[in-house]
Amino acid sequence: MAAAIIDGKAVAADLRTTLAENVSKFVERTNVQPHLAALLVGEDPASAVYVRNKQRACDKAGIRSTLHRLPAEITEEGLLALIKQLNKDPTVHGILVQLPLPGHIKEQVVLDAVTPLKDVDCFHPENVGLMVQGRPRFLPCTPHGVQQLLLTSGTQVAGAHAVVLGRSEIVGKPMAMMLVQRGEAANATVTVCHSRTAGLAEITRQADIIVAAIGKPRFVTADMVKPGAVIIDVGINRVDDKLVGDVDYEPVAEVASAITPVPGGVGPMTIAMLLQNTLTAAQLSVGMTS
Ligand code: GUN
Repeated sequence: MAAAIIDGKAVAADLRTTLAENVSKFVERTNVQPHLAALLVGEDPASAVYVRNKQRACDKAGIRSTLHRLPAEITEEGLLALIKQLNKDPTVHGILVQLPLPGHIKEQVVLDAVTPLKDVDCFHPENVGLMVQGRPRFLPCTPHGVQQLLLTSGTQVAGAHAVVLGRSEIVGKPMAMMLVQRGEAANATVTVCHSRTAGLAEITRQADIIVAAIGKPRFVTADMVKPGAVIIDVGINRVDDKLVGDVDYEPVAEVASAITPVPGGVGPMTIAMLLQNTLTAAQLSVGMTS
């Protein structure tokens, strides 16, 4: 039997409707409009599309967004100076530095410079630390989006064996942490696999849930999947001008019980969670705690 399709686009649209209502209530109560400042360095076309989508989603949710377009040749000092200014600007609640940055700029230095209270990507070590300790200020957008999909699809996560493919700071590592924690769509037994994992397919075949975030097109094949497993595909790879995930979709969908498509799966959820974090940042700025 073919898998159920987990429609991230629809779930994200629902979340954004609720969020827009919450933004509007917040504005009514405080007269403060949540405001996201996005920094786009250089001309990477994919990054430009992502940032545009984030800005559009902000507009629709009643969140102000400002785009700072910076030349690829900007110095690290120049970028840090702008971040410092945005950190201090009381009208800005969230700061998003779109990655990747050009090679001459040290990503870690730049991301560490964003004040933790405006760190809507949840990349700052203080926010990562709070998340790991189970008392999050913000949750990282993509892993949080994945959790929401597991929740709305009715996937049994507690007690399940979740295999996370990939150990990136943005997805794999925080994803594993969040699935293992106490809480909703959590309490899983988690295995993290990566490029140096031995016997990968044997491990994935034991998974009740697979989260694929390795950045290799169609890497997860049907023979790697246990019948009935739930498959979450975080990959966005461009192959012959087509977007494909990290999962070999059609054959895997024959084996799995539920699967996210690419596009229209995790991607829209990442944006919805970013909006949520921006509202949280605005709430924090007026002394409201969530
Ligand atoms: N580049 C790819 N994914 C992301 C993300 O989640 N946040 C930012 N800022 N840049 C990215």
